[in-house]
Amino acid sequence: MSLSDLLLLGQGQDLASERGVSCDGALPAASDPGLVQRAQVARAALGARAMILGHHYQREEVIQFADITGDSFKLAQAAAENSAAEYVLFCGVHFMAESADILTTPEQKVILPDLAAGCSMADMASATQVEDCWKALTKLGVANTTIPITYMNSTAAIKAFTGRNGGAVCTSSNAERAMSWAFSKGEKILFLPDQHLGRNTAVLKLGLDLSDCVLWNPWKPQGGLTDQEIKSAKVILWRGHCSVHGRFSLDNIAQMRAQVPGVKILVHPECQHEVVSNSDVVGSTEMIIKTIADSPSGSIWAVGTELNLVSRLAARFTDKRVLFLDKTVCYCSTMNRIDLPHLVWAMESLVSGRLVNRIQVESETAQFAKVALERMLALP
Ligand code: 13P
Ligand code: SF4
Repeated sequence: MSLSDLLLLGQGQDLASERGVSCDGALPAASDPGLVQRAQVARAALGARAMILGHHYQREEVIQFADITGDSFKLAQAAAENSAAEYVLFCGVHFMAESADILTTPEQKVILPDLAAGCSMADMASATQVEDCWKALTKLGVANTTIPITYMNSTAAIKAFTGRNGGAVCTSSNAERAMSWAFSKGEKILFLPDQHLGRNTAVLKLGLDLSDCVLWNPWKPQGGLTDQEIKSAKVILWRGHCSVHGRFSLDNIAQMRAQVPGVKILVHPECQHEVVSNSDVVGSTEMIIKTIADSPSGSIWAVGTELNLVSRLAARFTDKRVLFLDKTVCYCSTMNRIDLPHLVWAMESLVSGRLVNRIQVESETAQFAKVALERMLALP
């Protein structure tokens, strides 16, 4: 299909809102040799009506079409700041697209090219489980001095819970500021749903003791904790984790240091505490990129984060050595669901007047989730 054909198809047609429409049968074959050209044609046809946001963990074939690439914080900011694009195609995972929907205007439509791009960590805290936890904290008389902080990697319902109860969202790039802010408002933090980011920030950034943190297991009565453990804790960590970052181990670090003299270990704060504690640098995906970009030629880095990003860094910084910290392949399978066929399908559908895979958060949830997101965006 040529650019003019696509432009003609797009003219004067009302978009049929088909939330969650299936792309079965219509998905271009990954082997289609004209796929990149189809993407270019569809992108040009959409022009300024569309903005494509791409998280750093996206495949190379997808990220090349992103107008803005970034970590979760930068992409949330980009969504909040751009009110011009009618369509925001989010190349990332579901919770990111939800946040973009909440932060954009009601007229803008956020599209996730594959609805199966979820996040196992976000699924580890359901709204019912978190409400049950809050009821238990209320019964113990500590909820009124507890500030909930939820990692961006959570559903809109959890963000709404946080907004309703005086808390804020955080990302890996501002968790320290968010937790400091929370301690200026209350005595205790309920940190959802990533125990590792919560623990790493509390201990390594805020200087708390490991014993100040307790782990709330949502599958056990009262989180598996005694009244006293809850009352004396400063941080109640939710028992959630990232299955990708959870794989990096102390053994990986020991082997790397033994085999590669001069190597520096650079990891994401979703890694386990012992891994982060024994690394040289820790930071969000944006910070990981900046650290390598700013390092002198000849530096050697072993990076503990998702493999698409590490491969991109190795290809981009050829004057440095960028290694993957683990020996085994470690893609995020849900991030990887957004591939070029899905992006082409979503863009061509929009050009031809079909609104597909719209992510639209229910209005009351969006209202309270926005409170928590805006508290994050306003952090100093
Ligand atoms: P950041 O890009 O904010 O560091 O987040 C990493 C991540 O796991 C996103 O799912
Ligand atoms: Fe979720 Fe981990 Fe994948 Fe990020 S890398 S989307 S936290 S599973």
